[in-house]
Amino acid sequence: MTELSMTATELNFDDLASEYAQKSPQEIIKFALDKFDNIAISFSGAADVVLIDIASKITKNFQVFSIDTGRLHFETYQFLDKVREHYGIELEIIFPDTEQVEALVKEKGLFSFYKDGHKECCGIRKVRPLRRKLANLDAWITGQRKDQSPDTRANIPVIEIDKAFSTSNHQLVKFNPLANWTSAQLWHYIRFYNVPYNQLHAKGFVSIGCEPCTRPVLPNQQERAGRWWWENAIDKECGFHSNNNEQVIKSGNSSQ
Ligand code: ADX
Ligand code: SF4
Repeated sequence: MTELSMTATELNFDDLASEYAQKSPQEIIKFALDKFDNIAISFSGAADVVLIDIASKITKNFQVFSIDTGRLHFETYQFLDKVREHYGIELEIIFPDTEQVEALVKEKGLFSFYKDGHKECCGIRKVRPLRRKLANLDAWITGQRKDQSPDTRANIPVIEIDKAFSTSNHQLVKFNPLANWTSAQLWHYIRFYNVPYNQLHAKGFVSIGCEPCTRPVLPNQQERAGRWWWENAIDKECGFHSNNNEQVIKSGNSSQ
């Protein structure tokens, strides 16, 4: 660990959250990478590539992981490899537990989420592998933004204790450095710095998840409208960011 490296319990979160609330993504990512050795960027294979671009301008020494649910688009797989090559990074690909996927598919087939809702499949293919990864980290960095959803993301802070994945003996810190950026700011950055992007964006996709659960959105439609479109907006969290729903309830901000 470096001299500066910290654990969550050594930080005063109330002070930090207000100090960093209005800082730029660059300042937040620099702070995160300076303070934590054992930290990783969680990369979905979409426009959150900006996190990697910013980090790569700060240091060559940072961790990135993606959860491969087994159901991603071909373009996303191509993009994951492109990012790996472009930035010269080791991109850790994490897979779900084979036995759990096999049991689900055996019992309910390959498209159970259209009937039963996405939570069971996401739990097995996304959340459990994420939990396994996060158990070995002190902090993680996500690409969530407030403007992605007035229903579940309007209140996300730039720095928080991750209540969904912390345990009684392991407190996990979560950074959302892009929280205050709009989609327009993100895409301005991508164009200005010639950042590589997922080819699905050129085909009308905005928010990108698994292939059977993602579709393009119409102009001016909310970007997460194309995710799990058969479900209510308040349910459109896969479990990666389940404490967002807690924040919605606390602030009374539920439009459903
Ligand atoms: S999701 O929870 O509904 O899938 P979204 O696609 O908006 O969320 O992504 C928000 C952030 O969650 C991403 O910027 C990324 O940090 C993380 N994330 C989402 N999907 C993955 C994935 N498959 N692998 C790694 N990180 C992911
Ligand atoms: Fe399964 Fe769809 Fe969730 Fe992917 S997004 S893990 S396919 S329910």
